[in-house]
Amino acid sequence: MLQLGDEVSLYSLVFVVVLLGTRSPVWTTVFTASVYLFLTMFRFPQVPVSRALQVLHPAKGTAGSGKVSVVAHRGGGHDAPENTMAAIREASKNGATGVELDLEFSADGVPILMHDDTVDRTTNGSGPLSQMTFSQLRKLDAAAKHRLRDKFAGEKIPTLEEAVEECIKLQLTIYFDVKGHPDEAAAALKDLYKKHPILYNSSIVCSFEPKVIYRMRQSDPEVVTALTHRPWSLSRLGDGTPRFPSLWKHHWMTLMDIVLDWAHHNVLWKLCGVSAFLIQKNFVSPDYVQYWAQRGVEVVAWTVNTKVEKDYYQELLKANYITDSLVEDCEPHY
Ligand SMILES: *[C@@H]1O[C@H](CO)[C@@H](O)[C@H](O)[C@H]1NC(C)=O
Ligand SMILES: *[C@@H]1O[C@H](CO)[C@@H](O)[C@H](O)[C@H]1NC(C)=O
Repeated sequence: MLQLGDEVSLYSLVFVVVLLGTRSPVWTTVFTASVYLFLTMFRFPQVPVSRALQVLHPAKGTAGSGKVSVVAHRGGGHDAPENTMAAIREASKNGATGVELDLEFSADGVPILMHDDTVDRTTNGSGPLSQMTFSQLRKLDAAAKHRLRDKFAGEKIPTLEEAVEECIKLQLTIYFDVKGHPDEAAAALKDLYKKHPILYNSSIVCSFEPKVIYRMRQSDPEVVTALTHRPWSLSRLGDGTPRFPSLWKHHWMTLMDIVLDWAHHNVLWKLCGVSAFLIQKNFVSPDYVQYWAQRGVEVVAWTVNTKVEKDYYQELLKANYITDSLVEDCEPHY
């Protein structure tokens, strides 16, 4: 899948940087060769294109074969309380192709759906997830803070399994968003794929953390995967404001952002063998979609929340997108 030009520029860059640093042609050659060997030996190949296409452009569902997939962000957090069974049902009712769901764990290790690492923003409870057992979490009202809480009163935090079974029933594609816990997440998802093999054809595991994806493919190389990326995410928050007040720290993190962005586009995708790249929508253009297409990787944009933007993805880019609402324009939820 990789273009020759890519390989040449990747290793030339490594060579030049190391040569400038070490001033030793011998060590530079040894190092560059080691990088090459490392990548060749430890990379995972992409899953077959036909299966990636089945996941990214399912034939079933309202969107139809080969068309753009519309994915409800956190199940569609604007239309119903995020990451709940109600959100999944609402997304299906409103014609979503799939749902993006956030995997987390209770203190006693039960895989559940939750975006944050505390329950405060979405429920009537308070405190870190890592200190609450599943039975404590289950007593909370998952609709408590939602604008439509009256309509969705009594909604509970679902287990990963409940949510997945509902999605299978409704023929929704699942974009699992895994933020951390690489080992636990890979183990939980592996079990789930074993129990419901249809998931190999109807779901994709996504993460900001390459380690999560790499771990997932180590435990089951057949799973379709994606890396999630937002350029400048280390130095800036979602709305663009600097993450750190200290100027030194800000500049240091900006430098790290440049390195990370380069790594995502040149090394990490190949190492993990991803089939898709989930990127913040402001960085998407026809050229960008083309860049990834040449590498056998599909662009999926997030979070696309206005009619004008959605039309652009449907008609012009023909690229999948993740949205907070299937029914109306709204502000993005970071
Ligand atoms: C949250 O709401 C549920 C359902 O109304 C209720 O049973 C529970 O006691 C509430 N929990 C807290 C901490 O307020
Ligand atoms: C997945 O799709 C392939 C190809 O369409 C098919 O042969 C296979 O049976 C499907 N697997 C499941 C579990 O549905």
